[in-house]
Amino acid sequence: MSDEAVHHRWMQECLRIAGEARKNVGNGAMAGAVLVHENKIIAQGVHRGFGQVHAERDLLLSFGEEIPSGAILYVNLEPCCHQGKTPPCTDIILERGVKRVCFGMRDPDSRVSGKGIEVLRSAGVEVIGPTARASCERFNRGFVSVRTKGRPWVTLKKAMTKDGRIANEDGSTLKITSEEQDCWAHTFLRSRHDAILVGAETVVRDDPKLDVRRASAPFPQALPPAVPSSPDPFPHGGKGNTEEWPDPYSKIPVHASVLHHARKMRKNPTPAELKLWEELRDNKLGCWFRRQHPIGCYILDFYCNDFRLGIEIDGSIHDDPEQRKQDEERTAALEEIKDVTLLRFSNDQVLQDLPAVLQTIKEQLTKAPPLMGEGMGVREKEGRAGPEVTTHNTYQPWRIILDPSLRIPLDAQVVTDEARTETIIITDASRAGSETAELLRGRGVRVFGVPASGGRFDLPSLWRVLTTPTEDFHGLTSILVEGGARTWQICMDAGVVDEEIMLIGS
Ligand SMILES: NC(=O)c1ccc[n+]([C@@H]2O[C@H](COP(=O)([O-])OP(=O)(O)OC[C@H]3O[C@@H](n4cnc5c(N)ncnc54)[C@H](OP(=O)(O)O)[C@@H]3O)[C@@H](O)[C@H]2O)c1
Repeated sequence: MSDEAVHHRWMQECLRIAGEARKNVGNGAMAGAVLVHENKIIAQGVHRGFGQVHAERDLLLSFGEEIPSGAILYVNLEPCCHQGKTPPCTDIILERGVKRVCFGMRDPDSRVSGKGIEVLRSAGVEVIGPTARASCERFNRGFVSVRTKGRPWVTLKKAMTKDGRIANEDGSTLKITSEEQDCWAHTFLRSRHDAILVGAETVVRDDPKLDVRRASAPFPQALPPAVPSSPDPFPHGGKGNTEEWPDPYSKIPVHASVLHHARKMRKNPTPAELKLWEELRDNKLGCWFRRQHPIGCYILDFYCNDFRLGIEIDGSIHDDPEQRKQDEERTAALEEIKDVTLLRFSNDQVLQDLPAVLQTIKEQLTKAPPLMGEGMGVREKEGRAGPEVTTHNTYQPWRIILDPSLRIPLDAQVVTDEARTETIIITDASRAGSETAELLRGRGVRVFGVPASGGRFDLPSLWRVLTTPTEDFHGLTSILVEGGARTWQICMDAGVVDEEIMLIGS
């Protein structure tokens, strides 16, 4: 294994550990650290909760022995160098004589942002990184969003029948998704956001639980095995498995027809993009179209049976020289990404000879290299030491209800069940002191007032309430908006959707 692959592998371990503290860290970053010596983890640490010591400090405080020379301290976020709620991590790293540090991403917090690396380097520490930067940034996308945009990361999740319905005509609940899709959504969407958000009407009509209860189902192991050598790229009738990239733990069941695309795709696709995307979707080949690639790249990620294929449509249609230059830079960056086989088509090819384009894609799928390699989604148990961490299955996100007039039924599950203290009701500021609000607070439900006008919350105020730590609520960084249609629309119209995931029911 190359040094880079080794670093990548241990960085994935940091992310796995870090993820155990999701939601507990409030508006802060999830961070995990491992100290590796002779290919073994000899200590590990985690940022356990808001205001608590960071992962590197946690590790070094728990590891009383001398740091072996040659050991590498891995941490997914650049060590901090400022006195915040806890002392600078660079101090303890230097005090303990750590000689090599490998970090995943720079800290977007302006108080750090490269300075932590500088402090270590100028003290003679060998600093390696950023390693697996895309994975690390993707993993902490909520934290990055709060620090850079002042709002949480917003993912929209929609379930839709093939003919485009999201509920029955009378508004009653329509079961759209399969057990497997639910399982995927609980594992990779609900478990990977700090909060699930719905509008009041969804609570009135569906009385949802908004919890994680299917994440322990046998997914993705239950998927059919990959058949890389099969001449048929879709040996399971369009089935396969995929990996959310660059988050190595997510696998999207293609046969569930998951269409994943970013907001911009909808807003401004070129005719060629749209045509190819629709064709792949309609063929139920399972595709994933994203504009907001971590490197800013314009790419269609297409996955089947562990193959990763990037499809790029020639960006030269852009008249704007600046835009063209950006495209060229992105293409160059794309070529450097490992594990992606890149196919390029011109706009004319897609628009004028689509069957030939599809044929090329299918042929490529039969020979593309397998996606799952060392350090990519493979959790290696060997060589690990330290306590076993619990799995994500116990994780429960916050539940946020947008209810300006406090009209949800008082016997709704979200305000009566055991997890009601994890429910946040956002109501019009003028109702925050009402009798109903007090009654709910008496049950342990959190009721926050946000100014609204014309029945719509002021979004900057809403983000402030949700991301600013207080004594008993430490803020959050990522939200999965599950519906319904009006709530989706409000988010889209406000331009706050970072990703959109559509589960098409069978
Ligand atoms: N297929 C799916 O994926 C899916 C998912 C969830 C729900 N659904 C279905 O969707 C239907 C409900 O959808 P819907 O569009 O009627 O209602 P909804 O989106 O669930 O709720 C809309 C209401 O939420 C409040 N709200 C939302 N955003 C707000 C904002 N920014 N500011 C202030 N208030 C805000 C408003 O409450 P007020 O009306 O009190 O002002 C608004 O009218 C149900 O039938 C449900 O089964 C489907």
